[in-house]
Amino acid sequence: MDKETITLTDEQIEFYHREGYLTIPAITSAEEIERIRDIYDRLFAERAGRDVGDQFDLASPDEDDGTQLLPQIMDPAKYAPELEDTFFRANSYAIAAQLLGPDLEYFVEHAIRKPPAIGAATPWHQDEAYWDPAVEYNSLSVWMPLQEATVENGCMQFIPGTHKMDVLPHHSIGHDPRIHGLEVDTVDVSKAVACPIPAGGATIHHCRTLHYAGPNLTDAPRRAYISVFRLPLVQRDLPRDFYWNEMKRTARAERRKAAGKE
Ligand code: NI
Repeated sequence: MDKETITLTDEQIEFYHREGYLTIPAITSAEEIERIRDIYDRLFAERAGRDVGDQFDLASPDEDDGTQLLPQIMDPAKYAPELEDTFFRANSYAIAAQLLGPDLEYFVEHAIRKPPAIGAATPWHQDEAYWDPAVEYNSLSVWMPLQEATVENGCMQFIPGTHKMDVLPHHSIGHDPRIHGLEVDTVDVSKAVACPIPAGGATIHHCRTLHYAGPNLTDAPRRAYISVFRLPLVQRDLPRDFYWNEMKRTARAERRKAAGKE
């Protein structure tokens, strides 16, 4: 792994713990962005991992011949090991270590692509709503765009302070259980903060911070590369009821099953 080049200031660390998110102007170099972007576009073009459920659409029923509105690849480095050796990874880890403490663990990486003109909004949600209701999480995501991220192409937006709330009730987008993506049932967006950032900048958010990214209204793709870290998992005394995940009937789960993944 490359060596980290970033240290957060006390003010940045305090801001994250108070607001539940943070924006930084640069997490890697322009050269590395270019290198990652080539790999990233190839993985999406080849539909890497689709047959085993690692690539799927977050915003449509995800049929094989359907139009992809918000495709995602889980663990892209599994399909391009050269992604393991980046400043993005080293700096994400260093930042997460400052915010979570020395016990942090790598959780997962993913890539979310919003296609030009038709790229769907990522509705307001908390990441933890996707996860295991029997587990206590302290986790954060480092979200890096591979081109400028603007309000028009779907930069991240956050509602400050919402990381201090419990996980709220969610539902599948459009109340369609075939769709993987989740949306929180109710949200007050009056305090939402949009975070446009340059290519190779980053936003960081806690797993309970309510966040959103608008549709891509531009004629170029919006590519985001995300690295997720957590503290060691702790079983909860009482599991929560994430009924919105129990109701899911996704094509991705079918592909995983057919591939012997679950
Ligand atoms: Ni999210």
